[in-house]
Amino acid sequence: MKHRIGLRLSCIALALALPLAGVAGPREDQLARLASAARASDPAFAGFSAARGKTLHTQVFAGGKADTPACTSCHGTDTRAGGRSPSGKAIEAMALSASPSRYTDPAKVEKWFRRNCNEVLGRECTALEKGDWLTFMFGQ
Ligand code: HEC
Repeated sequence: MKHRIGLRLSCIALALALPLAGVAGPREDQLARLASAARASDPAFAGFSAARGKTLHTQVFAGGKADTPACTSCHGTDTRAGGRSPSGKAIEAMALSASPSRYTDPAKVEKWFRRNCNEVLGRECTALEKGDWLTFMFGQ
């Protein structure tokens, strides 16, 4: 019981802290959170790399679904152009310069990372991979 109250209190504390954390902007906050997670799993972490993010975006993987072996299977090879899902649903461009409203909702970003990384890599992406990929798209 005590534990549950503590949990509820920390949720309230988190809810109160979130708007303040938003001052730097939701995109910067996400990168900062991913950087802490990357550093926690590898103390030698030295920052995100747009080049590694580009490789992740274009690489063909064998561990996921056969019809979607790469991020580009749905998002297309041109980051500033739209893509299409296997069912034919149009997807807006992933490059921030082409879709300036993207990556402001961390829940949406996490939801799609989870879903898409599982489809393409057959596993969730690491914090390093997510940070690299976002850094690549933010610079596109
Ligand atoms: C099966 C098709 C498909 C594949 C493959 C795919 N995506 Fe996506 N992705 C989508 C769809 C559909 C959306 C949601 C629609 C949208 O945001 O326009 C989306 C959205 C996202 C978002 C959320 C963007 C936002 O605005 O918040 C991220 C992040 C993302 N994808 C990353 C990836 C990464 C990384 C890969 C490769 C590991 C990948 N996707 C592969 C279909 C795909």
